[in-house]
Amino acid sequence: MNIQAHNRHAHPRSSDFQPHRRRMMFFIGATWFAVSSALAPALTHAADQAEPLALRSIMQDMKRDMQTITGAIAEEDWKTIVELAPKVATHPEPPLGEKMRVMAYLGTDAAKFKGFDAQTHQAAQALETAAKQADGLGAIAAFAKVQSSCLACHQNFRSSFVSHFYEQK
Ligand code: HEC
Repeated sequence: MNIQAHNRHAHPRSSDFQPHRRRMMFFIGATWFAVSSALAPALTHAADQAEPLALRSIMQDMKRDMQTITGAIAEEDWKTIVELAPKVATHPEPPLGEKMRVMAYLGTDAAKFKGFDAQTHQAAQALETAAKQADGLGAIAAFAKVQSSCLACHQNFRSSFVSHFYEQK
């Protein structure tokens, strides 16, 4: 016997309700999405308590530029690297107030922190020079140095920054 026909028979009205129910579900889903997206920042903020440092968005920009540079190396697109390497080398600084908070927090470690920043700066300049000369291997070596300088600072400072500036004590 035909099971589908039997089921339809057992629930004669379900197919009549289907379109309406789908529209209803969609409406509820869309409303929930709108409400939760509107609330999400507030909730995250409440959980975090701390405004992100300007430093964080500077870091995100550097990450993006470094990703673009990786792609550009793969395509031997030296022009893009000549444009972006200086952005990594001379990334913006946080506003004065934040800089003072950071320096106060770092105390005697400030010189070490600045040293890592200087390494990033120098390596990114070397990357720019290599890209200007279309020196692929030189660019790759300089790129590795830039990443190593990012890593060195992160290994030394990132988790303590995050716990100091974001986590409640
Ligand atoms: C002088 C130290 C230092 C150097 C050099 C440095 N960073 Fe950072 N970076 C930090 C600190 C401190 C944080 C944590 C900031 C925060 O969470 O507010 C961080 C966080 C980040 C984050 C995480 C951002 C997020 O959304 O949580 C990224 C991505 C990042 N850095 C990328 C880079 C890249 C790419 C480089 C190298 C081109 C680099 N950083 C060089 C200190 C440094």
